[in-house]
This record gives sequence, C-alpha cells and structure tokens, in this order.
Amino acid sequence: MKARAHTNIALIKYWGKADAKLRLPLMSSISMTLDQFYTDTEITPAESDEFWLNGQLQTDRTANRVFNYLDFLRDKYQIKTPLSVKSVNHVPTAAGLASSSSAFAALAACFNYEFDLNLSKRELSKLARIGSGSATRSVYGGFVKWEKGNDDDSSFAIALDEHPSMDLQMLAVELNQREKKLSSTAGMKLATSSPFYQPWLVRNELELNEMQAAISQNDFTKLGQLAELSACEMHAVNLTAKPTFTYFEPNTLRVINLVTELRKQGIECYFTIDAGPNVKLLCQKENVKEIISQVQALLGSVKIVQATFGEGVKALS
Ligand code: PMV
Repeated sequence: MKARAHTNIALIKYWGKADAKLRLPLMSSISMTLDQFYTDTEITPAESDEFWLNGQLQTDRTANRVFNYLDFLRDKYQIKTPLSVKSVNHVPTAAGLASSSSAFAALAACFNYEFDLNLSKRELSKLARIGSGSATRSVYGGFVKWEKGNDDDSSFAIALDEHPSMDLQMLAVELNQREKKLSSTAGMKLATSSPFYQPWLVRNELELNEMQAAISQNDFTKLGQLAELSACEMHAVNLTAKPTFTYFEPNTLRVINLVTELRKQGIECYFTIDAGPNVKLLCQKENVKEIISQVQALLGSVKIVQATFGEGVKALS
C-alpha cells in the first residue's frame, strides 16, 4: 500500500517533551499543513525489514528509527510481517522543513491501509506522534491543533479548519539543505534549561487562544504576528539555554532583517523558523512577487518555494 502525507509548519510551536518515549509534548501547538512538501511511502511484506529513502537503501540511524517504529506498530497490532518501506521525500530531509512530520504520518497511514486496521484519524494521529511529534498534526489538512493531553490516549491532533479561506502563502527560503547539526529532540532537551522556558510555557494557553481567534476571524495580520512571536520565543529559549545554542546562520538573520524592512515599506510579511536555518515567510498573494524579488536581491539565487494549504494524509493507488 502507498500513502501520502504533507508536511506541516507550526505557527504556535511545540518545543519540549513531557514524556520522551510517548512523545507527549509540554505544550499544545497549532500548524498549517502545506501543499508543496510531502512524503510518499509504500510498504510491502519482505524477507526482513528494509528502508529506502529517495531510492537509496538506508543503513544508519535513520533506518533504525524506522525499524524501531515498525516494531512499535507490529507490537501494538500483533503483526509479525517483516516490511520493506520505500519513502520519497518531496521536502529537504531534516533541514528544519519538517520532513519527519510527513514521513511518520505517511508511514502510520500506510501501515493502517496495508493491514486493514480501519483506524480513525484520531488513532492515526496518536500513532504518528510516536514516530515524530510534529507528525501528529500532518494527519489533517489546513489549520491543525495538537492537544498536548496528558497520556497516550489524550494527546492527538484535531482539525481546526481543513479548508481555510484565508489568503495565506508560505515562502520557504531554503538557505541550507544540509541535515541539521542538532536534532530537534536534543534541542528541546537543552531548551528546557533556559530561565525563560517556564514563563513561555505559562503563555501557551493564551497564545493558542489568540491564534485560534485569528484563524476563525480570518485575520492574517494577527496570525502572522503570533506566528512570528512563537518562533522568536522558541529561538530565544535556545539562545538562553545552558549551554547556549542556535539554529540560526548568518543568512537567517539577514532574512529576519529583511522582513522588518519589508514591513517598514508597507509590505506585510512575517517569518517563522524551525529546528534549522531556513526561514519560512508568511504573506498574502499580492505581495509574493515583490517579497521573492527582495529576498533574491539580498541573497542571490536562493531557492524559494511558494506553498499554501495542503490536505491531510491519504492512500495512493
Ligand atoms: O517532532 P519534531 O522532531 O519534528 O520537532 C518539531 C519541532 C518544531 O518543528 C521546531 C516545532 C513544531 O511544532 O513542529
């Protein structure tokens, strides 16, 4: 069986685990599923487990992570079959463009279809969470909320609006496609040592409510401001962790400065950044061309991909 899941980008960030094994988060989060970035995964019974990524057989820790996840799924549903997993990522792997969100949502869905488990989206979301936290949200399209919950059963995503009417474009500025130096798991662990981590957690409920209001009122400005704030809070706890660390690179800061410059020019644009140096710009259709041309004037021939809302996980024939 084959399945496709789209990546999602968090507008209100998840950045910390309450339970590492179950991947229960310390905070709830809200994301936007993207149309342009996705993973296609096929699983077939095999002699022994194998994992192919973008046509290459994997033997390192990427493969082990997939095999451990397969073991978890087989244990849970009492299935013994060894499996061949073939994934194609239409998104740079592990460069802060959330490739794991689409990867584990696609794998969970594929397993569901292959073994006729007839799982609900809620169950799928919980399964995807065990593979990667952000994958919890890729089960749905549009705007999605991951309710943190307090155990395996209560931590899953819900669709806030699968077909939003908001004019919201995301420009992914791919500054660096190399694999990130510090995994999100390691980054999250370090971040909790920041003196600003607890105060940030206290704000989570307020920020979620404000973001949900911005979504239901179709308020792009409010959404952009809140998304940018959440990203800055996440990167501020990284910078103030013991020891300090950051995913930013010099060009990340140059793009951040450009965003404030664009706003001074009256061009509405906001940024969000995940566990990597790449910047995602939030804007509306009328400004896409001008923003791309100003980013290119600043950085030269950098790759910029324009995305908008994508759909939830689905079977491919
Ligand atoms: O679940 P992971 O390992 O993909 O971590 C996701 C962390 C962020 O992308 C930075 C934030 C988020 O909510 O997706």
